[in-house]
Amino acid sequence: MEEMKQREPENCEFMPSDYFAQFTTDEIFDNGAPLEVDLGCGDGSFLIAMAQKYPERNFLGIERLLGRVKKVAKKADRAGLKNCKVLRLESKYTIEYLFPENSIDRLHLLCPDPWPKARHHRRRLVQQDFLNCIDKVLKPGAEFCFKTDHPEYFEWVCEEMDTFKKFTKLEWNDDTFFYPKTDFQVQWEAEGKPMHQLRYQKPEA
Ligand SMILES: C[S@@+](CC[C@H](N)C(=O)[O-])C[C@H]1O[C@@H](n2cnc3c(N)ncnc32)[C@H](O)[C@@H]1O
Repeated sequence: MEEMKQREPENCEFMPSDYFAQFTTDEIFDNGAPLEVDLGCGDGSFLIAMAQKYPERNFLGIERLLGRVKKVAKKADRAGLKNCKVLRLESKYTIEYLFPENSIDRLHLLCPDPWPKARHHRRRLVQQDFLNCIDKVLKPGAEFCFKTDHPEYFEWVCEEMDTFKKFTKLEWNDDTFFYPKTDFQVQWEAEGKPMHQLRYQKPEA
């Protein structure tokens, strides 16, 4: 954590003033615009394309690998984006401890690690505990979008969402709205792997 504080961040990198206390969304972007969060944003191609398409919305990527974070921040800086930042942290920790309640308008979890071995399933992000955390940070009416190429992880997420019950499943076709393909989606589709996608909504208050 000390190492993270001492590093000189790029303009588009968000470093909270305290990594152990909740931040306010004004600390990230001070314009009060709707906030979208991309968990495990990888090379940031989805995040940046979204920020370019929707300048009236804010986009925060969360990524644990320093090299990727630096690259994403540099790309966003070079593109002159004021509505796009990246935070180097672990996704679940950030959602559980740092985001305020009712602060996110749309949450993206795209091509996360499927942890295919049975003994690693407990490492999968989508579990009841995680869903309770996202329920807390999503605003009423906010959405959760998920994509995977992994059929068994897809079934797992469907079951977890059914068990959770609090969110409503929404239709999501490729032409429902602008939604660029991520870096991993492009790679997997090139290998002939079909993608599976899910979209849920937290009920309006
Ligand atoms: C399979 S890649 C997908 C990247 C991107 N979403 C895409 O679709 O191109 C998963 C990414 O999530 C990051 N990641 C994995 N687990 C994470 C976690 N617990 N917290 C933050 N980032 C994580 C990895 O470093 C990697 O960049």
